[in-house]
Amino acid sequence: MNRVIIGSQWGDEGKAKITDLLTVNADVVIRSQGGCNAGHTVVVDGKTFKFHLVPSGILYDGKVCFLGAGTVILPEFFKKETDDLIEQGIDLSNLKISPLASITMPYHTEVDGFVESTTTKGKIGTTKKGIGPTYTDKMARIGLKIQDLYSLETLSEKLDVILPQKNKVLEKVYGLQPYTKDCIISLCEMYAEIFRPYVCFNWQEMLETFKKQNKNILFEGAQGVMLDVDYGTYPYVTSSNPIAGGACTGSGYGPCMIDEVAGVAKAYVTRVGEGPFVTELTDEIGKRIQDIGHEFGATTGRPRRCGWFDAVIMRYSALVGGLTTLALTKIDVFDDFDEIKVCTAYKDSRNGKIYYSYPTDVYMHKYLEPIYETHPGWKTSLSGIKKYEDLPENAKKYLSRLEELVNIPISIVSVGPDREQTIFR
Ligand code: IMP
Repeated sequence: MNRVIIGSQWGDEGKAKITDLLTVNADVVIRSQGGCNAGHTVVVDGKTFKFHLVPSGILYDGKVCFLGAGTVILPEFFKKETDDLIEQGIDLSNLKISPLASITMPYHTEVDGFVESTTTKGKIGTTKKGIGPTYTDKMARIGLKIQDLYSLETLSEKLDVILPQKNKVLEKVYGLQPYTKDCIISLCEMYAEIFRPYVCFNWQEMLETFKKQNKNILFEGAQGVMLDVDYGTYPYVTSSNPIAGGACTGSGYGPCMIDEVAGVAKAYVTRVGEGPFVTELTDEIGKRIQDIGHEFGATTGRPRRCGWFDAVIMRYSALVGGLTTLALTKIDVFDDFDEIKVCTAYKDSRNGKIYYSYPTDVYMHKYLEPIYETHPGWKTSLSGIKKYEDLPENAKKYLSRLEELVNIPISIVSVGPDREQTIFR
């Protein structure tokens, strides 16, 4: 069984917990896109592990964790994360990196930071990890890949093309310092050593073997569908493809390898960074959800914006994300709520037009008002419930209604942070 797990909202849906649970049945975990903009914490036996780039599957013995060609890797960050894991006694011999993964260079983080700190109008609110500039260079065909670090001839040839362009832009557009070829080459020598234990030059044979041996593969998505560079709330998105399709382009496997796409969604919606968010609650209720749900960014510590569950984005997400099943998390955050709202459609305040499908021109979202239906709360703790049948009637009704609105079965319901606080249907 090969399964893709993706975020179906704006990231931070609780993918880490669902991935951790489903990793039990996987032999291989592959990350296909994104970089250290992702972040999650896993607690095992009272020990806390922080992950940004490395799949948390590395905590399990014998599971191969592969960072595919679609990922972008900030070497210094990768070193810190792997050093910390080694210090905590984690064996990283099963961690592998594609030689085709892209490298985030110092000028990428500098440009990201510069743009973020100097832009006011249209600011994206990035994680400042150089993600956008790294993917920009990859698409402009002036990026460096991990494999380049191991051939001075290749590196030198590439830098002769890249650096004149790069330096002109750094100096003339951003007023930043240029880089000499010698400086980049010595950085790359250091990077080569950082990645050496992990680079998987025989990745083709490895993927072929997994396929032949029918290994169970879990494709671990980062961010979420609404942050997808093609389908999300562009330009307020990340620069990769968190939709299920990204699992193929970024891993080296084709779509026929995938049996199931599990979308993870919170029972409400959160967003970090800027951009439209029709069901956002800027009132006491939003604050209450933020407090109860501990909604603060894992990578940047920023408070997450909170709002009601939005069936319009979820239907869209189910379509473009390719979802076949849904894992709903943090439903227990509503345990004390008298009523819970769900957005079923949007209304354009200018002309009364109703949208059931997601309107992709996000510049018009300021005119959209959510149309809500209200559900009575269950007013009891769900945290100890293990079986779907044991959920209170109001919780079951709420879940059934979400399934009906999104038209995807909910197969996992998470009622608390622990592994045991999960209901499988
Ligand atoms: P970038 O990926 O750092 O370029 O940031 C672009 C947008 O994606 C910003 O709004 C970030 O807050 C958001 N973003 C990036 N990674 C994550 C994530 O893992 N969870 C939630 N939001 C994210």
